[in-house]
Amino acid sequence: MPELEQVEKALSSLPPLVFAGEARSLKEQLAKVSMGEAFVLQAGDCAESFDGFNADAIREKLRVILQMAVVLTYSSGVPTVKVGRIAGQFAKPRSKPTETIDGTELPSFLGHMVNDLPFSEGDRRPNPERLVHAYNQSASTLNLLRAFTKGGFADLHRVQAWNQEFVASSAQGQRYNELAAEIDRALRFMEAAGVSSNHPEIHEADFYTSHEALILEYEQALTRQDSLTDEWYDCSAHMVWIGERTRQLDGAHIEFCRGIKNPIGCKVGPTATAEEVIGLCETLNPDQEPGRLTLITRMGADTIAEKLPTLLSAVKQADHPVVWISDPMHGNTFTSESGHKTRHLDDVTTEVSGFFAAHREAGTWAGGIHVELTGDDVTECLGGAEPVADGDLGRRYETMCDPRLNGRQGLDLAFRVSELLREHDRTPAA
Ligand code: PEP
Ligand code: CO
Repeated sequence: MPELEQVEKALSSLPPLVFAGEARSLKEQLAKVSMGEAFVLQAGDCAESFDGFNADAIREKLRVILQMAVVLTYSSGVPTVKVGRIAGQFAKPRSKPTETIDGTELPSFLGHMVNDLPFSEGDRRPNPERLVHAYNQSASTLNLLRAFTKGGFADLHRVQAWNQEFVASSAQGQRYNELAAEIDRALRFMEAAGVSSNHPEIHEADFYTSHEALILEYEQALTRQDSLTDEWYDCSAHMVWIGERTRQLDGAHIEFCRGIKNPIGCKVGPTATAEEVIGLCETLNPDQEPGRLTLITRMGADTIAEKLPTLLSAVKQADHPVVWISDPMHGNTFTSESGHKTRHLDDVTTEVSGFFAAHREAGTWAGGIHVELTGDDVTECLGGAEPVADGDLGRRYETMCDPRLNGRQGLDLAFRVSELLREHDRTPAA
């Protein structure tokens, strides 16, 4: 039996990573977002790595996401649904299938689920065993995330302790500390007034996982029939999304996602037409089930005002209950003078502002943001209140693929989004 088939067979007999009931809970949360009653924060790595895999990195990433979520919830007054790009985000679509350096042409790096980053023939050769490694690392990441979010780390009484040192010393960190102190006071007030804060919502957080469903052999091997409903769920994550490069209506990725019951995301870039987007809605959510389909727009700061309104009004007119999320990262990537692939936080916030403006105009709910970040103090994206400059990029440029926001920049973005949320009319369009 060829090696890939053997691996698929092995994976299909391993335990599921998530349960169908959890995917249904996320769908219910997303249904609330589609009605303007909640906001989504989908965040994490561009590409997770097999190298240097450790508990600290997972904890620091979770810490930044929890901090950002608190900022968003506090200002919007609606729950923040937390979805990580984590525990499965190992495969990368690439614009070019091969890369040429000094006349040598090799396959592009496609993420640790497929091959390795160093530019050698052996490293770039796809190895099916990597699918099993991805499964195991996802299982162990999920295990730790569950322990952190249910075991006390995410307790709102600890909201001040989430501020990491390198973040706490910054202006955003201080702003966060003030907000955390207010939450602390509110909790103590409730307790003093005899209202018990002994609710699971205070002590635990719901944290969901997601990744791009790119390598269909992996996704299919982890797809299982739910014993309660007889329906099929991709149990590699609670939510999976279809990338900008694989969203063809007659393509394999749409065909696979049509058949599973998880909440599904689909990236929508600047070339998408209203007909294509309606096609996505009809194909991926024929029953118009709220929470089933999330459209993740990634237009670019310069193009969003021109491209998004047509799509919003077409979907609204067709009465499809989608969740709209802004990915302000992937339309704003460029190569800096120092030769680094980077993004500027100003462009990121400009795209998010354009996203909110278009929704306000259309009378639809700007339902969330989708960002690439890490808890580490990296220098991959430019700008921020304590700005990273072009000359700083080389200092800690560690990403395997796209540039990520560091903890300070993530918090900075959350504060800017919280201001936009406060202005945004929460009432969904009739
Ligand atoms: C990504 O989310 O990492 C990605 C590659 O995005 P897109 O499909 O929008 O280009
Ligand atoms: Co990316």
